[in-house]
Amino acid sequence: MKTIGVIGAGQMGSGIAHISAMAGLDVHLLDQSEEALTKAMAGIESAMVRQAAKGKVGEDAVAAALAKISTGSDYAGFGQCDLVIEAATENEDVKRSIFKVLGEYLPAHCLIATNTSSISITRLAAASDRPGKFMGMHFMNPVPVMQLVELIRGIQTEPATFRTIQDLANRLGKTVSVAEDFPAFIVNRILMPMINEAVYTLYEGVGNVQSIDQSLKLGANHPMGPLELADFIGLDTCLAIMNVLHDGLADTKYRPCPLLTKYVEAGWLGRKAGRGFYDYRGEEPVPTR
Ligand code: CAA
Ligand code: NAD
Repeated sequence: MKTIGVIGAGQMGSGIAHISAMAGLDVHLLDQSEEALTKAMAGIESAMVRQAAKGKVGEDAVAAALAKISTGSDYAGFGQCDLVIEAATENEDVKRSIFKVLGEYLPAHCLIATNTSSISITRLAAASDRPGKFMGMHFMNPVPVMQLVELIRGIQTEPATFRTIQDLANRLGKTVSVAEDFPAFIVNRILMPMINEAVYTLYEGVGNVQSIDQSLKLGANHPMGPLELADFIGLDTCLAIMNVLHDGLADTKYRPCPLLTKYVEAGWLGRKAGRGFYDYRGEEPVPTR
């Protein structure tokens, strides 16, 4: 494995490009938005510089890793790739339209992984030209910090594909958990209903943003409160995952909280939009309820 492509230069695609380049891989990072690519490169550089300032990596390693990342908005840049990891918006239509055309631009041996948080790997694989060389590789946010990668095989994933991706996860310094291909896999099957319940707790007035987050941080030793974490993940992503659980498992216990829907409708998507359950536009985050 020498060269990887990453589709989507948001918070996850940036993190995946960061750790891959640090591990010595050549990375081609693609986004449909020039602005996202510029923001991603600035974010990757500042995260790497922070690692160097803390003595975790040398300054030479930062320059070398940055030189390994190229960017663009054209699939033609993936001609040398051994693997492409898709980390675009959590929306099945978006992902399927990517997989429908991607194969034309890839070498025959190239594998495809998706970082989807919840969507059926089997269904996404079926939209590609190579379902046997396709699987789920689910990184956690922030990618450079979180230890886990969930690996998910689709029904057609070949054993050699799984072994290669598992080796890559180890090379990237991650610990692997294997999940079956059911809605939201393991982490989000458990985490997202808790976040959704926190939003219901707010919606019903049991607590406010500050008391709910404080309760889980100090009462259950969570590093972030559930509403702070929802903002960190992105409320659009949280809502998309709840919809996949609700549609896929047909159980009302996964009903997305109407207040979560309303925040997404307002464009208050959390930290990345400057506003969500907290307003991040000032010096300190301020609860919005
Ligand atoms: N990118 C890169 N590095 C980051 C970072 C980022 N966005 N944010 C923090 N860091 C690094 C810091 O540089 C620091 O590194 P060192 O340990 O080397 O010094 C380390 O993380 C700790 O940072 P801080 O001391 O500034 O902050 P903290 O102690 O508050 O920790 C946190 C920050 C690690 C994000 C912590 O709050 C945390 O663990 N939060 C929960 C994160 C979580 O649950 N993630 C999973 C979300 S679910 C998911 O990802 C799946 C999905 O599909 C939705
Ligand atoms: P994000 O909103 O930060 O970034 C998504 C990026 O995808 C944007 O830059 C957008 O311009 C780009 N994009 C959208 N459609 C595209 C297309 N057709 N071609 C190229 N680029 C396109 O989202 P994110 O948080 O980085 O999430 C990305 C993926 O990772 C989603 O599938 C999400 O579920 C998953 N994920 C997210 C988290 C998290 O905590 N945010 C954790 C694990 C997995």
